[in-house]
This record gives sequence, C-alpha cells and structure tokens, in this order.
Amino acid sequence: MMDLAALNQVAEKMVAPGKGLLAADESSGTIKKRFDDIGVASTEDTRRDYRELLFRCTDALRDHIGGVILFDETIWQDAADGTPLIRLIEATGAVPGIKVDKGTRPLPGFPGETVTEGLDGLGERLAAYYQRGARFAKWRAVIDIGAGIPTRGAIKAGAHALARYAGLCQAAQIVPVVEPEVLMDGGHDIGRCEEVTRLTLQTVFEELYEQRVALEGMVLKPNMVISGMASGRKDSVQEVARRTLAVLKAHAPAALPGIAFLSGGQSDEEATAHLDAMNRMAPLPWKLTFSYGRALQHAAQHAWRGRRENVAAAQTAFSHRARMNGLASLGQWDGSKETAG
Ligand code: 13P
Repeated sequence: MMDLAALNQVAEKMVAPGKGLLAADESSGTIKKRFDDIGVASTEDTRRDYRELLFRCTDALRDHIGGVILFDETIWQDAADGTPLIRLIEATGAVPGIKVDKGTRPLPGFPGETVTEGLDGLGERLAAYYQRGARFAKWRAVIDIGAGIPTRGAIKAGAHALARYAGLCQAAQIVPVVEPEVLMDGGHDIGRCEEVTRLTLQTVFEELYEQRVALEGMVLKPNMVISGMASGRKDSVQEVARRTLAVLKAHAPAALPGIAFLSGGQSDEEATAHLDAMNRMAPLPWKLTFSYGRALQHAAQHAWRGRRENVAAAQTAFSHRARMNGLASLGQWDGSKETAG
C-alpha cells in the first residue's frame, strides 16, 4: 500500500533547505561523450572510479546534496574497496535515486519528435531498485523546439508516459522525479521557449492528475525558460529568472514539495546565477533547487582527466560547485563567492 506521508518525507529530504540533487545518471552513451571530452576511455572501471570520486566527497554530499541520481550500472557497482557505491551515498544522508527510463525513440508519425520508452516491466524493476536502496527515480521526456515542432500530439505522448511512470513509482513507494525537458538547443528565442514550456507543463500536470499521481509525493524537474543556444541571444539573469518563475507559478501547483532544475547546457556559473536570482524573488510556494548533471560535474571532470593524482583536485572542484549551488538554492550566492575560500 502506498504511504503518501512517507513519500512526502523523502521528497522533502531531497529538497531540504540548502540542498539539491546530483544528476550522476548519465547513460553509457552520454558518459562516453563526457569522457571523450577529457580523453578518458569509458570502461566499467573508469566509470566506477569517476563516480566513486564524486560519492566520496562526503562533506559536500552531507551539506549540499539531498539526493543522487544513479544509472543502472552504478547502483549495482562496488567501490574499489568492495563497498557498494550506493552505501557511500547513504552514509552521507543523501537519498539514492535511479534513472528508470530507457531513453528516447522516434515517435511514429511525428517527424523530428521522440517519445521516452521504458514502461514495460517497470513495476518489477522498481521493486528491485527499492530492495537495493533507491528511494526516488527519474524519467525524462524530451521536447525539441524547431520548425513545426513540438506538436501537441508528441507533448501529450511524452506527458502520458511521465504520468504512467510516476504512478508506478508511487505504488512502489518510490518518489518520482518528473522531468519534461524542453531542450535549449535550437535557434528559438526566449518567448518561444516560454510558450512551449507553458504548454508542456500544463499537459504534464493534466496527465498527472488523470493518472492520480499525488503531487505531495513527487518532485518536478523542469528546464528554465531561456533562449536557444543557437539563437546567439544572451538573456539577462533577471529575465530568465522572471520568466521561469512566472511559468512555474502559473503551471506548477503549490502542493509540490520541490522543483529541481536541470542545467541543460548552461555554463556552470549561469546555472547557479539563475537559480540564485529566482530564490531571491521569494516567497515561493515550493522549494526551488538544482538537479544538475553537467553544471555540477563539468569542472570536476576537467580537473580529473582520468588520473589518480588529480582525484583530490576533482573533488575540490565538485565540492565547490555543490556549495555554490547550495547557496543559490537559498538565494545567498553571489559572484564573489566563486573565488572566496
Ligand atoms: P543536465 O543538468 O546536464 O541537463 O542533466 C540533468 C539531467 O538529469 C538531464 O536528464
């Protein structure tokens, strides 16, 4: 039987004041791309060594990270000394989570659009992940902006799958992180991003309602409202913050314990500055925090470059970004904190 009070407690813990989520759930294909950038071969051992390095940033995880999203391989992996990686995370007080979608495939009849797969057998997979210690999950729908897209049909298909996933998670006593990502690739302006993000969130919450998902027991992971990277436009921090908050206030019910943004290709400092600016626009009905992949790990990966002698520098780089984003989740960051000890 689903225990909503317990789900709510886990969700609140994930977005506790000053904390956010570390998205370390890159699929094998995505982590290979990241490792290619730093000249590291992607093998089971290098992936393990890299993730172990992050999860051994004990102070940073304890102080700034409410939850860590893992990929299937990682949740079953052991550290070099034989300790399961998931136990390292639990020991810091951060909640372990698991990416359960199986990625996107072309949506038939909708040229240029995709739908996320992975619902078949999901109930059984969730039960196994719960046994292993996962207490939340993640599923990402992808909405691309381009000529004639997105269509309502594709947005609805993605939102329906998200809602089915979320319902299955709650039945398995796992908090769903619901991630509808409107991509920031593309040449569109911020107004177009706003329009598509509004329609996407409205559709997602309609589907969540119809699938009887309890909002108190989930976390929303949205994109920010921002101009496409290929547009050549640079929005001010204030405009991104103002437009993103307006969209969320209109489309994300106050019953949600928290909203944790993806970084989506923003630079490390932009992602921090945007989050900080929004939290300075308090009071807000929900916790507003980060669930960053690239914006938390980029500096650490480049400091590491696969070399044992760089592990400490990589850990310092990761811990710094975790602290900066923790401050931003409280509206207490400013540029001077980037260089201050
Ligand atoms: P980025 O912060 O790198 O966008 O990754 C977050 C994530 O989990 C995307 O699914």
